[in-house]
Amino acid sequence: MSNLSRLLKESWTLVEEHQDKLASYFYARMFLNNPQLRDLFPVQMDVQRSRLLGAIVTAVQTVDDPEHFEEYLQSLGRDHRKFHVQPEHYEVVGSALMEALRTFAGDQWSIEFDQAWSDAYAVIADKMIAGAEADLSNPPYWHAEVLYHERRSRDIAVMTVKPMQPLEYRAGQYLSVETKYQPRLWRVYSAANAPRKDGSLDFHVRAVGAGWVSSALVRRVRPGDMIRLGAPMGQMTLDRRSTRDIVCVAGGTGLAPIKALIEEMTRANRTRWVHVFFGAKDRDDLYDLACLNRLAARYPWLSVVAATSDDPDFPGEHGNVSDIVARYGPWRDHDFFVSGSPTMVKSTLRTLAEMQVPAIRIKYDAFGDV
Ligand SMILES: Cc1cc2nc3c(=O)[nH]c(=O)nc-3n(C[C@H](O)[C@H](O)[C@H](O)COP(=O)(O)OP(=O)(O)OC[C@H]3O[C@@H](n4cnc5c(N)ncnc54)[C@H](O)[C@@H]3O)c2cc1C
Ligand code: HEM
Repeated sequence: MSNLSRLLKESWTLVEEHQDKLASYFYARMFLNNPQLRDLFPVQMDVQRSRLLGAIVTAVQTVDDPEHFEEYLQSLGRDHRKFHVQPEHYEVVGSALMEALRTFAGDQWSIEFDQAWSDAYAVIADKMIAGAEADLSNPPYWHAEVLYHERRSRDIAVMTVKPMQPLEYRAGQYLSVETKYQPRLWRVYSAANAPRKDGSLDFHVRAVGAGWVSSALVRRVRPGDMIRLGAPMGQMTLDRRSTRDIVCVAGGTGLAPIKALIEEMTRANRTRWVHVFFGAKDRDDLYDLACLNRLAARYPWLSVVAATSDDPDFPGEHGNVSDIVARYGPWRDHDFFVSGSPTMVKSTLRTLAEMQVPAIRIKYDAFGDV
């Protein structure tokens, strides 16, 4: 661990237990220093659930790995254009962060800690600003019309939207989405198709518990509605130079990016075997299995194994999808794509580590913090 990393981690332990108060103070400071910034945030803002502070803290603490994060931070900066963030706002946010840390750390806060946080924040802010500036030929967000909306189960909808302006992305990437029902509240969803000539995109959305955006997308959005899309992000894309066979592991609507990748392969692949494991609680949640099975019948290189964890009569595999992947192994020479809930992704990564799959061959997107 480098000295910078050590300082950042050590200093965070001084404030960690006051996180909620730190967050309230941080936002209060920020809005006091620049009241106009309030308009950038969601109307019904819940400070404890707001993602900005947590995201900054995570980013600052991983600043030691700039190569890995360079691309992520640039695309995050690009994505922040949708919030109307300007370069000068970074300083306001940075100052509020520093003031909040100093206030809650108490006597043990030192000049070294202060310097470490300012330096790390500056590195991140610079990369995000550079990402935004390199993207000025694109709009800050895209207006898109909902063309099609179908409920596939109690909680899941599949929809197709068409951006009004060209929107370039790669199969496997995700984009943030905002609806008129929850203004300024953005959540990311994976495109479920490879880019099409007509520019339309599919999304597969599950409404989670008291989830604001997902419930609106599943239960309220109708064809004809306009939504907004942010810049595409994510690295879970196909390495076209690799000749290895592929294993895809999807949990629930984690199928979305996997489906996009399969679609991309239907255009070019002749030589790589692709094994898809699609897991869900019960058969209703295997909302797109019929389509996957049709693709498998058409493309000899594609095989699909479906599994339910909580549906004893389901005519397929039973259990957690990660255990089923293990049962079908070994997979030491394969490229992996894993997508789904944090729990499912975590247990699949653990299984793959036990099976000695090198981490470098695994790309994954978890629908939350892993
Ligand atoms: C890279 C990435 C790609 C994603 N792609 C998709 C996708 O293609 N399809 C899709 O449906 N979702 C996807 N998600 C998840 C999506 O971004 C939202 O997190 C999710 O829809 C919940 O948003 P919300 O506003 O409805 O809930 P929020 O208002 O953010 O959360 C409401 C409550 O529900 C809880 N909660 C949040 N998520 C879950 C969950 N999964 N299960 C149980 N409780 C939960 C929260 O803790 C909170 O208490 C993706 C996430 C990431 C990070
Ligand atoms: C180091 C600098 C920053 C980092 C690492 C960062 C990171 C993030 C991340 C990861 C999210 C969640 C993404 C999402 O939900 O779409 C987010 C949300 C947000 N960020 Fe930033 N950000 C930074 C600076 C800023 C600045 C300077 C502003 C300008 C005020 C800003 C405004 C916002 C807003 C408005 C949200 C949405 C908050 C919410 O929905 O509750 N960010 N940020």
